[in-house]
Amino acid sequence: MRHLIDPMDLSVEEIDRLIEVADDIILNGKKYRDSCRYKKLATLFFEPSTRTRLSFEAAMLELGGSILGFSSADSSSASKGESVGDTIKVVSGYADIIAMRHPKEGAPLAASLKSSVPVINAGDGGHNHPTQTLTDIMTIHREKGRLHDLTIGFCGDLKFGRTVHSLIKAMSRYDNIHFIMISPEELQLPEYIIRDVFEKKGIPYRDVRTMEEVMPELDILYMTRVQRERFFNEADYIRLKDSFILDEKKLVTAKKDLSIMHPLPRVNEISTKVDDDPRACYFRQTLYGKYIRMALILSLLEVDVDED
Ligand code: NCD
Repeated sequence: MRHLIDPMDLSVEEIDRLIEVADDIILNGKKYRDSCRYKKLATLFFEPSTRTRLSFEAAMLELGGSILGFSSADSSSASKGESVGDTIKVVSGYADIIAMRHPKEGAPLAASLKSSVPVINAGDGGHNHPTQTLTDIMTIHREKGRLHDLTIGFCGDLKFGRTVHSLIKAMSRYDNIHFIMISPEELQLPEYIIRDVFEKKGIPYRDVRTMEEVMPELDILYMTRVQRERFFNEADYIRLKDSFILDEKKLVTAKKDLSIMHPLPRVNEISTKVDDDPRACYFRQTLYGKYIRMALILSLLEVDVDED
């Protein structure tokens, strides 16, 4: 039985295979619509979510399966003090696969050790978010047609953004990727990512303080939200929240085929005027997330869809 806890749990070849299946789902959706009949997905969300939870649920429903779960810790027995381990032991008797989000780093890993069905980490604190990474990789594949030879700028809250941490790890395995970190000093990438990914693998990276100075070089601009819920101090959040805002003016020097990505939700870090620019792909990104999650569910449940 396989779980997906860390983006590195999947090899590059396995990710290629998921992309192939997701591409086929986009082309031949009908073929898949009964492939998870009588299978149940439980979404256990101890922390709020719109896209991740609903895209998991939409993915399972589109595969002909069913869904159950809860969308906040308040509406589960966690509010009575039940441990994650106990919750998982119970739910793995009710469902065939579990997607779990938790504010504590490592909670989905701990859960997977107690589970008798596959567990997918749907975000653990500031740590990892492997299915957002699959979504992002699928987006890069669909929008750029390649996963190598790219200059990627990560902008905003690089300290607390788990989507950034997971995507950097995953993209470090592809050839000739140039990483540029764009953040205020207070929201820089954690030291452990710099050490374990860039330094360990000898991958060069740059760290800059403005978007403008690197804009013309970028193939991908990955924007992020300043994550209020991870700040201990409201004053620091307020000071930093407007730090890096993308607007039409800043895009003047950008490449014609730049892809602007964002895991969403957006607060104000991308002006809504940018939404109509064909380079803005954050809403298409949410759709790719559903298809790649469909491919992931099929793979973890070991469902074989007959090739016609
Ligand atoms: C992100 C998350 O929850 O980590 N969103 C997502 O999953 N689509 C990013 C965020 O909350 O800012």
